[in-house]
Amino acid sequence: MPVLSLFPTLGLTLGYLMMTAFCHPPVSACKLTQRMALCDAQQLVSVPGDLPENIEDLSLNNNHIKALENGCLSRYRQLRSLSCANNDLETVGSNVFRDLLHLESLNLAENMLRYGDGQTGQFLRFLSSLKVLDLSSNSITEDMASELLQNLTSLERLSLSRNLLSRLDDSIFSDLHQLKELNLERNQLYEIDGAFDNLNNLQRLNLAFNLLPCLVQFEMTQLLVLNASHNNIEWFITNQDLKETFQLETLDLSDNKLLFFPFLPASSHLRNLLLSQNKISFYHHLANMSRTNWTNSIVFYNLQGNVSNVTAELWDETLHGDMSSLELLDLSGNLIANFPRGFLLQMPHLYQLKLRTNCMESLNVSSGELPATLHELDVSNNRVTTLHAGQRAVSDLNNLTHLNLSLNDIQRLPPKLFSSLPRLSTADLSYNTIGVCDQNEDTNASYTDCLVWGKIGSLRQLHLAGCNIVDLSPSAFEGSPLVHLELSNNVGLHLKPNSLAGLAGTLQHLGLGNTGLLNFDFSPFHHLRYLNISKNSISQLPESLMELDLKLLDLSGNNLTTIPSEQASRLAQTLESVFVNGNRFNCCHLNWYRTFEKLVNIVDLAEVRCFDQTHKTQNVVHFDSHKCGANNEESIWWYILLLSSMIVIFLSITGLIFLTLKPRVLPNAIKKKCWKATSY
Ligand SMILES: *[C@@H]1O[C@H](CO)[C@@H](O)[C@H](O)[C@H]1NC(C)=O
Ligand SMILES: *[C@@H]1O[C@H](CO)[C@@H](O)[C@H](O)[C@H]1NC(C)=O
Ligand SMILES: *[C@@H]1O[C@H](CO)[C@@H](O)[C@H](O)[C@H]1NC(C)=O
Ligand SMILES: *[C@@H]1O[C@H](CO)[C@@H](O)[C@H](O)[C@H]1NC(C)=O
Ligand SMILES: *[C@@H]1O[C@H](CO)[C@@H](O)[C@H](O)[C@H]1NC(C)=O
Ligand SMILES: *[C@@H]1O[C@H](CO)[C@@H](O)[C@H](O)[C@H]1NC(C)=O
Ligand SMILES: *[C@@H]1O[C@H](CO)[C@@H](O)[C@H](O)[C@H]1NC(C)=O
Ligand SMILES: *[C@@H]1O[C@H](CO)[C@@H](O)[C@H](O)[C@H]1NC(C)=O
Ligand SMILES: *[C@@H]1O[C@H](CO)[C@@H](O)[C@H](O)[C@H]1NC(C)=O
Ligand SMILES: *[C@@H]1O[C@H](CO)[C@@H](O)[C@H](O)[C@H]1NC(C)=O
Ligand SMILES: *[C@@H]1O[C@H](CO)[C@@H](O)[C@H](O)[C@H]1NC(C)=O
Ligand SMILES: *[C@@H]1O[C@H](CO)[C@@H](O)[C@H](O)[C@H]1NC(C)=O
Repeated sequence: MPVLSLFPTLGLTLGYLMMTAFCHPPVSACKLTQRMALCDAQQLVSVPGDLPENIEDLSLNNNHIKALENGCLSRYRQLRSLSCANNDLETVGSNVFRDLLHLESLNLAENMLRYGDGQTGQFLRFLSSLKVLDLSSNSITEDMASELLQNLTSLERLSLSRNLLSRLDDSIFSDLHQLKELNLERNQLYEIDGAFDNLNNLQRLNLAFNLLPCLVQFEMTQLLVLNASHNNIEWFITNQDLKETFQLETLDLSDNKLLFFPFLPASSHLRNLLLSQNKISFYHHLANMSRTNWTNSIVFYNLQGNVSNVTAELWDETLHGDMSSLELLDLSGNLIANFPRGFLLQMPHLYQLKLRTNCMESLNVSSGELPATLHELDVSNNRVTTLHAGQRAVSDLNNLTHLNLSLNDIQRLPPKLFSSLPRLSTADLSYNTIGVCDQNEDTNASYTDCLVWGKIGSLRQLHLAGCNIVDLSPSAFEGSPLVHLELSNNVGLHLKPNSLAGLAGTLQHLGLGNTGLLNFDFSPFHHLRYLNISKNSISQLPESLMELDLKLLDLSGNNLTTIPSEQASRLAQTLESVFVNGNRFNCCHLNWYRTFEKLVNIVDLAEVRCFDQTHKTQNVVHFDSHKCGANNEESIWWYILLLSSMIVIFLSITGLIFLTLKPRVLPNAIKKKCWKATSY
């Protein structure tokens, strides 16, 4: 015993000796590298006072510091960067930064700074070299901000996001002549009155997630990016009297309440115009009416009762401003039924046009209507019934590669529309009523209700989900280089063995969910990696699947009771993800699950249920296989065990009986013999 207890004591002493000998355990466990001290997440309640005096970079994030008292930083006069984010800062002494003449970057984000209780807005006044300041996620009001920001004449980047600013006037940023980037996201701003007038260098302004009702007399010509998304903006009106070119490249007004297309600068470099989720419509059909008695001017008041009489030619759709540099126009989620004549042609560089979820009823896909530069057009979820094209029924949108027309009510289109788009690689016609035809019988017709896909040499992705397709003839996709074909939700699809002939050499992604599929020979499709056969009442996996090297397989919503072990092992060799919920799995035949569990990501695992012997549903993950007893596959061993123990018992009992009977049998035999053999 003494020997055993000696070792730990010795070990401890040795360890202690080694500790004290080789590393001075610092009071604060800060990491020092060159002139940088990293003291993040050390449970500190104050600034460590024992760091080298010459550090230039001090990081105190994620601690519990409540106050920066005067003098607590005066030791570190060389500091260029100080970060004290995510602490419990309530008070900052007004002289605490007095000696930090070199400080360029200060981060006090995620604290509890606010006015009152002795806290002033004075503590930054000495930081005349400060370039970067982050005060986000505090409780700073405009009064405090206005005091804090005085004299910060070198400041280039400022974040005041997630504070309590509600109204900005011209005093608040008046000293920030060098400011380039200003983040005011997630405050409660409802009025801005001349606050940015002096910010002649401002390039990026973020006003997202505030309560602004309008932006009028916009005249910040120097700005590159304006983000005013998620406000209550009903009007965006540029000062139309300015003839200067605006530098604006990105304007984000999404998630507002615009009724009119914004009144953009008459000259600008605007490239990205984001207007999704508003109530924009065009009113050119009202133009004549307005001449008589409709108002043309809007009057805006500010809090002081100052009136700005902004006159916008509300009904004149020719005055939208300069859109000649636009590359991206996002109008998703508005109320647009059609565009004024020539509207889109004012954008000779347009690359991407997003019109998802509007009220479009017809669409003319031709270069006489759309810019020839267009690369991506999304008109999904509108009310389009007929697609038109140019007079020759041939369009010359030579660069269009993505066309999304899903969720409309398209029933007719020009037969050669798609084949006349030489670069079209992705087409989505899902949820329309358009069939797939063999060859166009009548190629002279100007409209057709079914399309031939085989001839379109550029097409790689085709989405035809929910198109009420019933028949697919063997030649439907002949010669097509499709890689991705989505046919899900064509409930009555009658997939014949050779329906997808022609795609065997290319197809990698095939969607056949909810198509009534029961069996299909997948073996020719060697390149298939993604297969969706969900919602099909399949009760046995097609054997041809075993010849594929699938990566993703969706088997959910079928009628499978199990997946035979050999099939599960084969699939698991290549599968990365599988969906299996909504089948009729037998809880006592879950060997497939144990195979998959180890090797494959069962994406919907939490929802996978099985039926136990009493037909109750059980969660596959929590099911205890011992409950299965005789029905279990593994129970065969139990059977054997049970049987063998019964045999053993039986044998022992017979043995015992035999042994107990033996004495009588033996003498009997002897007796018999004796009785027979001997006669005296
Ligand atoms: C701003 O700086 C000037 C001179 O550098 C100084 O006189 C003035 O008091 C400072 N203002 C504040 C609020 O500290
Ligand atoms: C505008 O701000 C919102 C909120 O931060 C952000 O989601 C969006 O991407 C920004 N827009 C641009 C164009 O950066
Ligand atoms: C507007 O009125 C003019 C004549 O006053 C007419 O030529 C034009 O077609 C009308 N436009 C619309 C959209 O009604
Ligand atoms: C505008 O004028 C038309 C006739 O030109 C008249 O019917 C209508 O009531 C007027 N609307 C208003 C708001 O005055
Ligand atoms: C309107 O603005 C001017 C200057 O911008 C200012 O002098 C005046 O006090 C403001 N208020 C009213 C009610 O005019
Ligand atoms: C605004 O301008 C219109 C026309 O220019 C004028 O009739 C109206 O009186 C003005 N309103 C104010 C408040 O100045
Ligand atoms: C579609 O636009 C082209 C070019 O502007 C035009 O020639 C054609 O008539 C239009 N088609 C329809 C049906 O509006
Ligand atoms: C189409 O794209 C190519 C390169 O992507 C470009 O050179 C060409 O100018 C574009 N054509 C049009 C009409 O925009
Ligand atoms: C087409 O648009 C719909 C609805 O907006 C969307 O769900 C679908 O993913 C888009 N298709 C493609 C191929 O991007
Ligand atoms: C198509 O039109 C051409 C000439 O316009 C004609 O010769 C040909 O017979 C037509 N074909 C059909 C199938 O109507
Ligand atoms: C498979 O297709 C069905 C539609 O039938 C769809 O709901 C499901 O999301 C698809 N599965 C995957 C993994 O995309
Ligand atoms: C699922 O299979 C069971 C028998 O295994 C059968 O009774 C049932 O009709 C099948 N359900 C469907 C929707 O095919």
